[in-house]
Amino acid sequence: MEPQVHVLTHPLVQHKLTLMRDQRTDPKKFRELLREIAVLIAYEATADLAVGATSVMSPMGSAAGYDLKEHVGLVPILRAGLGMVEGVWNMMPNSEVWHIGLRRDERTLEPVQYYSRRPVSPVVDVCFVLDPMLATGGSAVAAVDILKGWGAERIKFLGVIAAAEGVKRLTNAHPDVPIFLAAIDEQLNEAGLIIPGLGDAGDRQFGTG
Ligand code: PRP
Repeated sequence: MEPQVHVLTHPLVQHKLTLMRDQRTDPKKFRELLREIAVLIAYEATADLAVGATSVMSPMGSAAGYDLKEHVGLVPILRAGLGMVEGVWNMMPNSEVWHIGLRRDERTLEPVQYYSRRPVSPVVDVCFVLDPMLATGGSAVAAVDILKGWGAERIKFLGVIAAAEGVKRLTNAHPDVPIFLAAIDEQLNEAGLIIPGLGDAGDRQFGTG
């Protein structure tokens, strides 16, 4: 299966991404930008969702239209993915939100799971994993592993910035998972931070840097 990696070149995405990278952007503004860019990325990631034909009565008569047929699960990877939930959820208010808590071990850079919460009998057609940063790719691969273990069959990854290495690791491990991003940066430093990236997306949102 050919992995699908979508890097969004839309001017609004690139404008917001640049403001997010700017070290002068404070946590309030950073959270606002993350919420907004997540909606734009979700616009692209939802382009193939199934709709059914319907009709409604406008004040002027019957109008043909569509309603969304698919039930979506939004799966933020804690902490940084939390900032992508609200905007996307507002676009699809019937979505479910499942949480996966992963933190990277500072020495090995491998993800450690510390939390997960989903419904007892989950019924969704497609899961969107939300995490602004795809660095080594360890967290994204672990999140998709967990979702597949829960029985999810269609999964998409929505991020903001990736390192080329992380994209490679995710596509190798899960070639069936399309990836949607605003940028792929070239480098990862020894601490696992994307260069130039935007710093630590969790710290920048929550003011813990
Ligand atoms: C960061 C980031 C991703 C992960 C990416 O989270 O938000 O979840 O690292 O790195 P990887 O691709 O190498 O796994 P972190 O572990 O710093 O936790 P936080 O979101 O709570 O700050």
